[in-house]
Amino acid sequence: MHRVISELADSELKGKKVLIRVDYNVSVNGGSVGEDFRIRMTLPTIEYLIKRQCKIILITHLGRPTERQIQYSLAPVAKRLSEMIGDSKVKFTSSRIGEEALLETNKMEEGTVLLLENLRFYKEEELNDPLFSSELASLADIYVNDAFSTSHRKHSSTYGAAKLFEIKLAGFNLQKEVQYLSMIRDNPDKPLIIVLGGAKIKDKIGALENLLPKADRVLIGGAAAYTFLKAKGINTGNSLIDLDHIGWVTKALSTFSEKIMLPTDHVISSSADNGLAAMVKGDIPDGMMGLDIGHETVQRYSTEVGGRGSGTVLWNGPMGLFEFGMFSNGTINVAKSMALAYWRGSKTLVGGGDTLEAMRRAGVSENEVSHVSTGGGASLRFLAGDEMPGLSVLSEK
Ligand code: 3PG
Repeated sequence: MHRVISELADSELKGKKVLIRVDYNVSVNGGSVGEDFRIRMTLPTIEYLIKRQCKIILITHLGRPTERQIQYSLAPVAKRLSEMIGDSKVKFTSSRIGEEALLETNKMEEGTVLLLENLRFYKEEELNDPLFSSELASLADIYVNDAFSTSHRKHSSTYGAAKLFEIKLAGFNLQKEVQYLSMIRDNPDKPLIIVLGGAKIKDKIGALENLLPKADRVLIGGAAAYTFLKAKGINTGNSLIDLDHIGWVTKALSTFSEKIMLPTDHVISSSADNGLAAMVKGDIPDGMMGLDIGHETVQRYSTEVGGRGSGTVLWNGPMGLFEFGMFSNGTINVAKSMALAYWRGSKTLVGGGDTLEAMRRAGVSENEVSHVSTGGGASLRFLAGDEMPGLSVLSEK
């Protein structure tokens, strides 16, 4: 079992250089940060360590650059972090990892924060390069992982560097994620209702294989639903179908037919952006594609999610192409039902960046769910029971 930062005595923290792997992979538009949820979620850890006079060195990636590319610079992220913590405490540096960054960290005062430039400006990061890992490790006395959402990656910052520290700890955000997701994976309060949307079935198969036997209901929406409907012999027109996984879907349907709920009506159009939409029950006509769940399905799903006020509800992925107003009704109603379930007493958990955006559009606040996961991909991997190098390394001696 890993240790959390609060398990270390204040005297063991005072004046120490602490390297924190955060996940500030956020959206940046025109030089400023859009949704800053991932940044806010790390504040408890950072402020806890500031109060204990640590020198805090933050490392993160942003996007998937292959070299130093200005549009992936963390400068806008540093600006937002300064607004949250205070200008005088936060510094940003583009000094290179190695000698240059080491000099900077040696100049740090107690209770201040230094954000280093995007780790993926170095190809060594994703290669988990031993020299790069040791350069990162040389920057601090203590390692903290507060980036659950990148803990499925075996990179230098999540694994190689962490291995080299005698003291490696979990931050508060990571710990909260692990607690909630373990509860769902291992011992959910029943009934367990799962709402699954989005497009890619492949990413969800592992989690579904683990959770389908435990779940009481699995409500499928988004493009994933059309693959399920096709497997049942229903006409899906031009809807997005994941042909590679239709075999798996067919098997899941025959084993768990009584648990899996599928849309019975749909909002359809011949294309996503022609401004035209219609509602159809049953088969989707040729030339048309399903882009949201229909009214009848919204009602059935909302009753399942919000109707009980007990047990656990997990939601991952939108019900339709909710970025377009005319295809957002299903997703918005699921978000509202999640809030209702929470207020009535269910444990509710949502995951994935899209889902957070959908909640915002539905006027549902982060405080109206038990837990919002910062990691879509990582939470699905965790729920699938996959190895998480960034977590397991924290327990290594
Ligand atoms: C995420 O956004 O899911 C994490 O930051 C991981 O990013 P990656 O998929 O580029 O490794």
